[in-house]
Amino acid sequence: MYGIVNKAIEGLVTTNFGEEKWEKILEESGVDHDVFSTNEIYDDKITFDLAIAASEVLGISVSDVLIAFGKYWVLTTAKKHYGSLMETGGETLKEFFVNLPNFHSRVMLLYPNIQPPEFDVEYIGESEMKLKYFSQREGLTDFVHGLILGLGEAFDIEVETHLIQGRKDGLPYDEFSVKW
Ligand code: HEM
Repeated sequence: MYGIVNKAIEGLVTTNFGEEKWEKILEESGVDHDVFSTNEIYDDKITFDLAIAASEVLGISVSDVLIAFGKYWVLTTAKKHYGSLMETGGETLKEFFVNLPNFHSRVMLLYPNIQPPEFDVEYIGESEMKLKYFSQREGLTDFVHGLILGLGEAFDIEVETHLIQGRKDGLPYDEFSVKW
């Protein structure tokens, strides 16, 4: 994945737990880099090794690391550093979800070699939907959970979400229920 992802994990850890914890996580992960460049592509294993080491060093589950990372990605990485791109996603939470399937086609203007996620949105009512997440990668389900919660916070709306069914059940996607 592009280095921006690993840099965001670093940002999440240093902001909330301090520089020393990040140094410890880097050491524990066995990852052979101490600096990541935003636009360089790194092996996905590095990102997963950092998440696992963060879980060990911080004493929280990998799921909780990924959920926290999803929130941080929306609220800090995306909102603070790519504010105008985020604004193209929609003016309301509902609009953002409607546009989500196309969002990474705009991200690709900045990161042309991205392996983007794919989303499919099905409305159940005015404030309820089913969101399908397709990915070439495995292990990011909880990250998406955090992203959905982060989007709620970004629009100042309380969102309830849970995984209905997914890859763990042998499906080729994860399906979330989202209510707000
Ligand atoms: C301006 C904001 C955003 C930027 C610049 C951005 C950029 C990226 C980048 C660079 C990656 C790494 C993929 C790779 O390197 O191959 C990524 C992955 C991902 N992004 Fe975004 N993104 C943004 C917003 C969002 C939002 C709002 C969501 C969903 C709510 C989202 C969902 C994901 C997911 C799920 C992945 C993992 C890819 C996979 O499943 O393989 N992103 N994004």
